[in-house]
Amino acid sequence: MKKAIILLLLISNFNVNAQKFEGLAKTPPLGWNSWNTFATDINEQLVKDIADKFVELGLKDAGYEYIVLDDGWMSKERDANGNLIADPIKFPSGMKALAEYIHSKGLKFGLYNCAGSKTCAGYPGSRGYEYQDARSYASWDVDYLKYDWCNTSKLNAEGAYMTMRDALKAANRPIVFSICEWGDNEPWKWAQDVGHLWRVSGDIINCWDCEVGHGSWSSWGVWKIINMRKDIRKVAGPGHWNDFDMMEVGNGMTDAEDRSHFAMWTMLASPLIMGNDLRTASKETIKTLSSKEVIAINQDKLGIQGFRFSNENDLEIWLKPLDNDAWAIVFINMKDTSTTINFDWKKHDIGDDINGKSLDLKNSVFRIRDLFNHKNLGNTKSNLKAEIGTHDVLMIKLEKE
Ligand code: GLA
Repeated sequence: MKKAIILLLLISNFNVNAQKFEGLAKTPPLGWNSWNTFATDINEQLVKDIADKFVELGLKDAGYEYIVLDDGWMSKERDANGNLIADPIKFPSGMKALAEYIHSKGLKFGLYNCAGSKTCAGYPGSRGYEYQDARSYASWDVDYLKYDWCNTSKLNAEGAYMTMRDALKAANRPIVFSICEWGDNEPWKWAQDVGHLWRVSGDIINCWDCEVGHGSWSSWGVWKIINMRKDIRKVAGPGHWNDFDMMEVGNGMTDAEDRSHFAMWTMLASPLIMGNDLRTASKETIKTLSSKEVIAINQDKLGIQGFRFSNENDLEIWLKPLDNDAWAIVFINMKDTSTTINFDWKKHDIGDDINGKSLDLKNSVFRIRDLFNHKNLGNTKSNLKAEIGTHDVLMIKLEKE
């Protein structure tokens, strides 16, 4: 009897630890991360200002929730007991106080660390300290952990991320677990039960379609990342997302390119994590980022990742099936000049075999809504005609009449 009880306890304990927190990130997380603009040059006041801007600029109202501090928030050394500590100069009030400030605005707080011995910028990594670090995050009321992959030597990725997942579970606070191993170990094959999102590529950079080499690694422009992975859309869904990296909207591309980048991240059901300086962002940038009808496509409850329908004559057409038999469609002009489209609905069979969805254009009529411009564009009885500027996008939603 005693043996049976011990066995039962062991099994139940094992079960508790061998799961990620369920019920989180049912739609792709929306937020902001410090890395793309600030790298390790971050501090308490900056984070508070960003939280204030979430509210002031209507970004919170548009659905953005997480404020995530990337690399560089820690002291270079752990304390005498092996605990992580916030850099006392950059964050004099400590992480718990910062979390409290962010929570007081109705927002959520995220931190970064790494599975290796050190983070990519050389701060203490979690290797060998996973449970201790998870307890620290829980005690500071952290809601989100981005977990990187530098200095991991021969560690097995799946195992390393499972260890941190179990540590977070044991710390007993619901924390979204964001896996960041750059797609090197094909996390879409194993991470569904480990994390809530996983990066699919190396780091993004603020260009339309470039690759910038840094010796042993490269940074990737928007279209390089989009085109990097094939056949991974089927694994995305509520609670487990392909993460196409923090956005570069507002970081130097044209307004048209920013709109297209944003439209694509929403279509790909990617987390929408802003990476720009919200204190100095232009009106156009904020307009793009807070475009509620566009965000609604990303947040659609079915959580289906969109797919490329065609890319002929430098026109990218992408589709995303939505709840209620609606569909989102983007047309992106890849040319260096503007283009006109004349899309004959009757000539196209539109379907998504993986998800068993089809758009019955022959027997049903759909209303067309222009999502960035908040305009109705008639219905699918007549051709869709539009002029699209260079690298710009027309993003529409089709709903049955
Ligand atoms: C890696 C990640 C980035 C960022 C930096 C921080 O390169 O992929 O997103 O977190 O590390 O050092």
